[in-house]
Amino acid sequence: MCGIVGIVGSSDVVHVTELLLDGLQKLEYRGYDSAGIYVTNDQKQEHLIKVKGRVADLRNQVSDDVQGSIGIAHTRWATHGEPSINNAHPHVSENGRFYLVHNGVIENYQELKAKYLSNVNFKSDTDSEVAVQLVQYFVDKDNLTTLEALRKTVSLMPDSAYGFLLIDNEQPDKLYVAKRRSPLLIALGDNFNAVCSDALAMIAHTNKFVELHDGEVAVLTSNSVDIQDGNGNHIMRDPYTVDMDASEADKGAYEHYMLKEIDEQPIVIRRHLTDYFDENKEPALEQSLINEMAQADRIYIIAAGTSYHAGLVGKRIIEKLTNIPVEVNIASEFAYNYEIISEQPFFIFISQSGETADLREVLNRINKDGYSSLTITNVKNSTLSREATYTILLKAGPEIAVASTKAYTAQISIEAILAKALGMKLNNFTAQNFDLFGQLSVVANAMQALIDQKDKLRNIAEKYFVNATDAFYIGRGIDYAVSLEASLKLKEISYLHSEGIAAGELKHGPIALIEKGTPVVGILTQENVVALTRSNLAETQARGSKVLTIAMKKFAVTNDDIVIDDVDELLTPLLSVIPAQLISYYTSLAKGLDVDKPRNLAKSVTVQ
Ligand code: AGP
Repeated sequence: MCGIVGIVGSSDVVHVTELLLDGLQKLEYRGYDSAGIYVTNDQKQEHLIKVKGRVADLRNQVSDDVQGSIGIAHTRWATHGEPSINNAHPHVSENGRFYLVHNGVIENYQELKAKYLSNVNFKSDTDSEVAVQLVQYFVDKDNLTTLEALRKTVSLMPDSAYGFLLIDNEQPDKLYVAKRRSPLLIALGDNFNAVCSDALAMIAHTNKFVELHDGEVAVLTSNSVDIQDGNGNHIMRDPYTVDMDASEADKGAYEHYMLKEIDEQPIVIRRHLTDYFDENKEPALEQSLINEMAQADRIYIIAAGTSYHAGLVGKRIIEKLTNIPVEVNIASEFAYNYEIISEQPFFIFISQSGETADLREVLNRINKDGYSSLTITNVKNSTLSREATYTILLKAGPEIAVASTKAYTAQISIEAILAKALGMKLNNFTAQNFDLFGQLSVVANAMQALIDQKDKLRNIAEKYFVNATDAFYIGRGIDYAVSLEASLKLKEISYLHSEGIAAGELKHGPIALIEKGTPVVGILTQENVVALTRSNLAETQARGSKVLTIAMKKFAVTNDDIVIDDVDELLTPLLSVIPAQLISYYTSLAKGLDVDKPRNLAKSVTVQ
């Protein structure tokens, strides 16, 4: 949930402070309630600066004389301890020797504090500060080296998630690292080495990265990287190249990442057409994956948030094209309510970041039980990708805005390609007669037609949503799945209470919430239920609601507000979600909120 970055380099050729601040800026989408930086050099000229605020506020506090040859920096999403300067990282040991940043949660920090640190004068309310005080404790009391003390410290937190970066100001040429469950990558630069939460932090300076795995520690200098496993064995691991253009991670001329990413959706679909289809316009996926999935008697989709909503759509597409039963589970529920598993299960994990802790919890169990799995993710070499049997990449480009848009439509597109490939393998009649390539080509153009209606959607947002106190999206079948996603978009960036409701359920309770002017948006793309949903809309209108409709052209009537082009009913979510994305964007904008970094949220949820 936090963004961390550390750099060790020769200060005469590397501007460590600028690299840290630039990297932290790129990681800010991971958490942004406070930030801090620590730099030092071999003359022990130290600088520790922390702010309750954004990276930009931190940058304003960093004067030109804040220089060094080694440093760590942190942008926080608070777990324990409110956002404040004292609770911001880096944290300092009591004797002022050790400096640490942390991403994750130390589950047993209170017990450790009571057992080892009862005499320590803590400066913060955080769990993270316990780690840096323990390092000092073991160096002083057990006469351990800094690395041994770090090892000892992490050995005492077996159920915790951590990415620790540690500097010992008596060894200002070494950066100490420990990782378990929280994402951390080593970046290999010219005249420097770095550690960061994800490649975005360093991609402007290098494309060479080395994975760190759970339970490993590492010691970096400006020209060496020593990775060790839990027993101190040295690990030799080849670097890999991240093929991301640094400019993809910039806003360019856009005011917000979210609008840029909404606009990029047709491009992503067209990229799928070129990368995931062969010359015969048939899906081109790993054959062993398709062969293995064809054996399944049940498919389990595990996901969270928007990715879970994409899974709900995927269920309908996969079942229609393969006739294999699919169930979609919220990761944090499934992890602790492990249902009865079928004889031949296959698990699909859907995760934009590839790091969501709730999903990792399930995947760890699935791996222990020996089941095969596929991760559909936007991040190459992410933890969920590495730990699953198979991976399919979304190829959506970096998604920076906390509110997921292009990843959602990319996930549905990939699920459709997977379903088509699997259906063909199973000689499924519907799959054989489903021209997915042609349909996705139509979708890409139809997406653009909706994206071009920004002014109309902005007017709708400003007229009916900005001053609303509640809002509802309703639909049936696949339109209900989209209603859930449409509602999440609205609530997470405009803070307007919203619900996605199965249209038929309104009369069983939720209709009591309808008041004069309450916006109720009906999604109308499924032929067998359009008329029923229109009746449900009328029932709300009779009670004063402001009805808006997103209708597919062949079912549209004259006063429908938004009309989407005709595509196969299985693929309408790729279109019907776009007006909802834009309505949420413009509602947030009109309310003067931070569209890309909404309050209380973070992009990658790496805590449970
Ligand atoms: C989406 O708008 C949200 N920011 C959030 O629900 C997100 O989809 C969820 O946290 C899952 O993230 P993942 O796809 O990276 O696993």
